[in-house]
Amino acid sequence: MLGVCYYPEHWPEDSWAADAAAMAALGIAYVRIGEFAWSCIEPRRDAFEWGWLDRALDTLAGAGLKVVLGTPTATPPKWLIDEHPEILPHDAEGRPRRFGSRRHSCFSSPVWLEETKRIVEILGERYGGHDAVAGWQLDNEYGCHLTVLSYAPHCLPAFRTWLQARYGTIDQLNAAWGAAFWSQTYRTFEEIDLPNLTVTEANPSHRLDFHRFSSDQVAAYNRLQAAILRRLSPGRFLVHNFMGFFTEFDHYPVARDLDVSSWDSYPLGHTDQRLPLSAEEKRRWARSGHPDVAAFHHDLYRGMGEGRWWVMEQQPGPVNWAPYNPAPARGMVRLWTWEAFAHGAEVVSYFRWRQAPFAQEQMHAGLNRPDGALDQGGEEARQVAGEMAALDGALASRRQAPVAMLFDYEAVWTCEIQPQGQDFDYKSLSHLFYRCLRRLGFDVDILPPGAALDGYALVVAPSLPIVREDAVEALEQCDATLLFGPHSGSKTESFQIPQGLPPGGLRRLIDMQVTRVESLPPAVQDQLAWGNKRYPVGTWRERVASDAAETVASFDDGEAAILVQNRGHYLGFWPDEAFLTDYLAALAEARGLPVQRLDEALRLRRLGDLTFAFNYGNRPLPAPAPGDAAFVLGNRQIGPHDLAAWRKG
Ligand code: GAL
Repeated sequence: MLGVCYYPEHWPEDSWAADAAAMAALGIAYVRIGEFAWSCIEPRRDAFEWGWLDRALDTLAGAGLKVVLGTPTATPPKWLIDEHPEILPHDAEGRPRRFGSRRHSCFSSPVWLEETKRIVEILGERYGGHDAVAGWQLDNEYGCHLTVLSYAPHCLPAFRTWLQARYGTIDQLNAAWGAAFWSQTYRTFEEIDLPNLTVTEANPSHRLDFHRFSSDQVAAYNRLQAAILRRLSPGRFLVHNFMGFFTEFDHYPVARDLDVSSWDSYPLGHTDQRLPLSAEEKRRWARSGHPDVAAFHHDLYRGMGEGRWWVMEQQPGPVNWAPYNPAPARGMVRLWTWEAFAHGAEVVSYFRWRQAPFAQEQMHAGLNRPDGALDQGGEEARQVAGEMAALDGALASRRQAPVAMLFDYEAVWTCEIQPQGQDFDYKSLSHLFYRCLRRLGFDVDILPPGAALDGYALVVAPSLPIVREDAVEALEQCDATLLFGPHSGSKTESFQIPQGLPPGGLRRLIDMQVTRVESLPPAVQDQLAWGNKRYPVGTWRERVASDAAETVASFDDGEAAILVQNRGHYLGFWPDEAFLTDYLAALAEARGLPVQRLDEALRLRRLGDLTFAFNYGNRPLPAPAPGDAAFVLGNRQIGPHDLAAWRKG
């Protein structure tokens, strides 16, 4: 189903009924409202203006639309900040961030938690049983604008309490942090500061714990809202809208308290701003988005919670926030929408119904232009609605992918805290593995370490610096071929080098040691030989040793590059795309998985008995469909920025 984000408070009331009717006519089923509306609901403390919201809900419901009501906590109003400036988050320089945009609140502020409880309870009491309210969006984009790590005065006691609960005694903390180094030994938990404003880098264990603490504060905040709405609004689903390439908090525990995960998909902005691509690649994908940007997140967020997921905000045209904001090529809004459905989305909801002619996002497109005319994105949404109606129910079933990729938020923080080479970026490495798998035609499930892995033929961990017992057990218990990338098992939970050296706990799966690592500046390139080919190696190299595992590839200087023992494969270097594609293909073939070598612009995805093919490029491509395929969308020749879907005949 389709949805849209709507802001009745932005438009004259006499236009709402026409808007609602136009949404329904376009084929929209869900409307998200209210997530920034606090000052309109409560212009002064305890002075509520419910009339407009009551009427907005009635108007939308009257047009047959279902509402996702947002809790407005991403935008505490001015009167509240004036009353309680201690709500404001502080940056790493220790300065309070100001009122005047959004997300100006700190997850650890006791006053803020009280105020959150108050407004969510008031909303839940008023609308929890409202017929139009199908579900609730809790807050909006937790952590957006880098607001997870806050260094406000009230964070300090909360952090100390968190540390005390984790370590019990200060001696245990000192041991875990290696506090003897640089005379950092603490006598009590009250002596510990936040890890900002130090002369040079703070202790990495201290920083990692502060990141874990901050992440836990987000989960606790979400749980606070969820508990209230579960009580006051039974039968309604709870959802939050996560972001693209955003890893400042661990999303898995947040998702566990929700019914539906959703994310905000802006493929062009994410390609330009958040993915390290060459200038040539950025040029190539400027108007379509990189073919693996949206899909990566669809697979990531499907793997959260119970697997129910939406796209809450789908880019409808040019956005306003990336360094450059090109317009999507004609067809891309439709393609992105279909691609989300092919990955199992329940709902794709566009941001936003109409472009606002005022304020921060006045240059951000909507389905409609500021003058009310339907824009290109709106036309494409209407086309999708028509196509979906014709497909009628064919989209219901999902199936497990043959390949799983492990994704770990703690790994991001670990690699950021001590990268050991500025190009060792965990998100880039994960995306590299993902796109190689997709170029080979595979569907991929992205899962957290520790998730059950039964039924997968291949499991890849691009890197897994901290390996917990549950992750090792899940890997032991499945019978997949396992591929570990560099720096795996390189740290203990308290950020130390494991006794017995890396890969730590993974030595139960492949008995080897990493005896040294080196990061390589861009100008230094080595080579490795594997099979009858040679591949460049840059960024990162390891010296690996084993009496038990076999060396299947070596660097030019004769040192081992890849070790294999039973199901376990370890890459002692940062792979380049050509090598990784070849190696993954070989692993998949050995497991009997059908391997394809897709055009760089073509991607596949299966849903139930349908296969979808998406052409991200600007020239036609043949659909890799069997001779007896029955097409339900498109045909054998897939036009530029177009798609096809078929069943086996
Ligand atoms: C999202 C946010 C929306 C809007 C949109 C613009 O990050 O949730 O409120 O700002 O981006 O692209």
